[in-house]
Amino acid sequence: MDETLSALDLAAVEERIAGGTTQRRGEAVMARGEGCWLWDTAGRRYLDLTAAQGVAMLGHCHPVLSRAIAEQAHTLISCPNFFYQETRARFVDKLASVLPQHLGHVFLANSGAEAVDGAIKFARLATGRTGLVAAMRSFHGRTVGAVSLTWEPKYRKPFEPLLEVAHVPYNNLEKLAEAVTENTACVVLEVVQGEGGVHVGDAAFLQGAQQLCRERGALLVLDEIQTGFGRTGRWFGLEHYGLEPDIICLAKGLGAGFPMGAIAYTEPVQAALYPGAHGTTFGGNPLACAAGLAALQVYQEGVIEQAAGRGRLLFDRLNAVLGERRIVREVRGLGLMVGIELREKAGRYLKALMDDHGVLALPAGSNVLRLLPPLVISEEEIEIGVQAIASVLPE
Ligand SMILES: Cc1ncc(COP(=O)(O)O)c(C=O)c1O
Repeated sequence: MDETLSALDLAAVEERIAGGTTQRRGEAVMARGEGCWLWDTAGRRYLDLTAAQGVAMLGHCHPVLSRAIAEQAHTLISCPNFFYQETRARFVDKLASVLPQHLGHVFLANSGAEAVDGAIKFARLATGRTGLVAAMRSFHGRTVGAVSLTWEPKYRKPFEPLLEVAHVPYNNLEKLAEAVTENTACVVLEVVQGEGGVHVGDAAFLQGAQQLCRERGALLVLDEIQTGFGRTGRWFGLEHYGLEPDIICLAKGLGAGFPMGAIAYTEPVQAALYPGAHGTTFGGNPLACAAGLAALQVYQEGVIEQAAGRGRLLFDRLNAVLGERRIVREVRGLGLMVGIELREKAGRYLKALMDDHGVLALPAGSNVLRLLPPLVISEEEIEIGVQAIASVLPE
C-alpha cells in the first residue's frame, strides 16, 4: 500500500474494498493499542471500554501474549491437524485444567459462530434428534447455523429459510418447558445475554433449563462466547449458577484477541463423534494455540479475581453517578459485563462518548449502552469512563 496515504484515504480504501456489511463509527483509522487504550493515525487516543468487542481481555498488545505469538511465528505457523503438535497439546492441556471437569473434551475452531455451528452438529449426533430451542433476544453469531439460533429478526429474516428454531422468552421456564419436545436435540442459551441488551439469566431459569433438558433427553448448550474467561468475574458464567451443561461454546477471551473458538463437551458427546464427523483447516493452528496458552497463563495470575472487584467498582460508580438520572432506566450486569439501559436510543450517546471524550462503548439492542472493558482495566480508567458517560447523558 502507498505509505503516503492520509487517514481519510485509508478509510476510503477500506470502504471501497472491504466496506458493505459494517457500519463504521466515524472516520478514525486505528493504528495501535496498548492496555485499555487505542490510538488512531492522527495520534488521538481512545479509552477502549469495548475490549474490541469483548475479546482483548488482557488489554491491547499484552506483552506476554504478543511475545508468545511472535515466538510461535518464528517457530511454526501452520501444521495440519492430522499431526500432533506441541503448542496445541500444551494449550488443550491448560484449557482442560480451567474448564469444568465434566467438560473433558474440546474441538478447536476459529470463531464464536463456528463453535456454535459445531455445537449444533455435535448435539444432533449425540441425541439423534434435530430440534433446536433458543431464547428471544439471543445472539449466537452470523453463520447460517448460528444466525438460525439468533433471535433478532433483522439479522435472520433476509436469510430465511434457516434451520428451524423454537425461540422462547428468556428467563421464562414455563415457555421453555412448552418448547422442549422428544425431538429437541439441544437448548442453546447465554448465561447473560450480551448483544440482546445485557440481560442476566435468573438462577431458577437456567437451573430449570438444565433439569428440563436432563428429564427430556435434550442437551444443554451454553454459549459462553461473551461471558467466558473472566468477563463476569468468574472463569465461566455458569459458575455463578452451578450449571453443568453438556456443551459450551467459547471464543472471544479464549485467545484474548487472537481469533479462535472452541467447543468443550462431555464424554457422552465425545462417544457419538467419529473421525470426519466435523473438521476445520485452521482450528487449533499453532499461532492461535500459542496465544490461547499465553492468555490462560496470564488469566491464572489473579486477573479474573481482580476483574470481579473491578466489575463491582464499575457497577457501583455507575449507579452512584447515574442512579438518579431520568434517562437511565437501569444499570445491570455481571462482573465486567455492564449494560446501561436508557429511556432513549443509545446511538447518539455512543457517538458523543467517542467524539467528545475519546471513550469507546458498545450498543446492545437499541437503547442499551454496553461496557465490556479489558479485565485489566485500572480503577483510574474506570473513573475516566464513568465521568465521560456522566458527561454525555443528560442530568
Ligand atoms: C454470545 C455470542 N455468541 C456468539 C457470537 C459470535 O462470535 P463470532 O463473532 O466470533 O462469530 C458472539 C459475538 O459477539 C456472542 O457475543
